[in-house]
Amino acid sequence: MKTMISSIDKDNIDLEELKKHAKLLSEGKTVIFPTETVYGLGANALDEDAVKKIYEAKGRPSDNPLIVHIHEKEQVHELAKDVNDNAKIVMDRFWPGPITIILNKKDIVPKTTSGGLDTVAIRMPSHKIAKEIIKQSGVPIAAPSANISGRPSPTKAQHVKDEMEGRVSGIVLGGDSNFGLESTVLDLTSETPMILRPGSITKEDLESVLGKVELDPSLAKKEDNQKAKAPGMKYTHYSPDADVFIVSGSKDDVFNKVNELILINNENGLKTGVMCLEKNKHKYNGEVISLGSTLEEVASNLFNVLREMDKLKVDIIYSEEFEIAGIGQAIMNRLLKSAGYKIIKA
Ligand code: TXA
Ligand code: MG
Repeated sequence: MKTMISSIDKDNIDLEELKKHAKLLSEGKTVIFPTETVYGLGANALDEDAVKKIYEAKGRPSDNPLIVHIHEKEQVHELAKDVNDNAKIVMDRFWPGPITIILNKKDIVPKTTSGGLDTVAIRMPSHKIAKEIIKQSGVPIAAPSANISGRPSPTKAQHVKDEMEGRVSGIVLGGDSNFGLESTVLDLTSETPMILRPGSITKEDLESVLGKVELDPSLAKKEDNQKAKAPGMKYTHYSPDADVFIVSGSKDDVFNKVNELILINNENGLKTGVMCLEKNKHKYNGEVISLGSTLEEVASNLFNVLREMDKLKVDIIYSEEFEIAGIGQAIMNRLLKSAGYKIIKA
């Protein structure tokens, strides 16, 4: 497939250029565009044939529902029924932004979009290019992360070009994503809101406006994963080519354990990569890539570092572990999935 590719500056949008891509969307074709979380692979959410092209381009299982992206809050009422008080609070406080809400769907949303469910996931992104392309297309846009299914989500223009050129009708390149992890997915169909996928809007942030918020208990353990309420959380995810392990323990024990394992890997002819906080970089031998100095930086860099490790052609990756609080919840969720829940105790 021939892909129309345009680079657009989010702070000085070339509207004529962007409209060419919006037109592709309104014609039922697929276009990749940047959002503040990760790049999305969009198509008309209300057109089943268009949505099928998304599943094809990603090689994604069709029981995994898509998020429908809108450019103004009122559009929620076109897509969802029972827009309850919790939904209004979240929309008011956090939209536009990196949070997706699950509500009961109206018939206008095809089951192809909702993965056969009676609910629909909706998000209003804050990224200027995302908002404008949705607006210009004139339709709500279903958009999963723009990676081949199972791979880390793309956070940089280059990731999208490398992986998706030829698989979609259009690509809008618009720089790096700011958050780097996908949106928080919050189910609002029950009395107590439940986080189905942690993200940069944290449980703590949500509890400050909603009161009690639960976290889908099946996210914590591999054995429970098949019960995950967001179908997407069941699948292998965020996998680089190398085998990923999280190394857990007190700092010095982790340094020693990783360096010991690197020696053994070297003897076996295996190349090792290490992902760690900036301040610990000098503690490790092997190919070390810093994830950053703060948890926000780690979140924003994680998927890119996993892709960088592929370029280094490492066989094994060891990652430091992060505190499961605040945004650390989302970081550890993605890390555990990319490691297939493999943890080495130091
Ligand atoms: O930040 C994001 O959310 C990005 C950007 C492009 O907006 N999109 C994204 O989409 O991450 P995707 O398709 O990769 O992940 C959507 C997640 C999946 O885990 C899916 O199973 C879940 O949301 N989901 C979607 N609709 C759902 C529904 N009705 N009920 C439960 N989970 C749902
Ligand atoms: Mg995804």
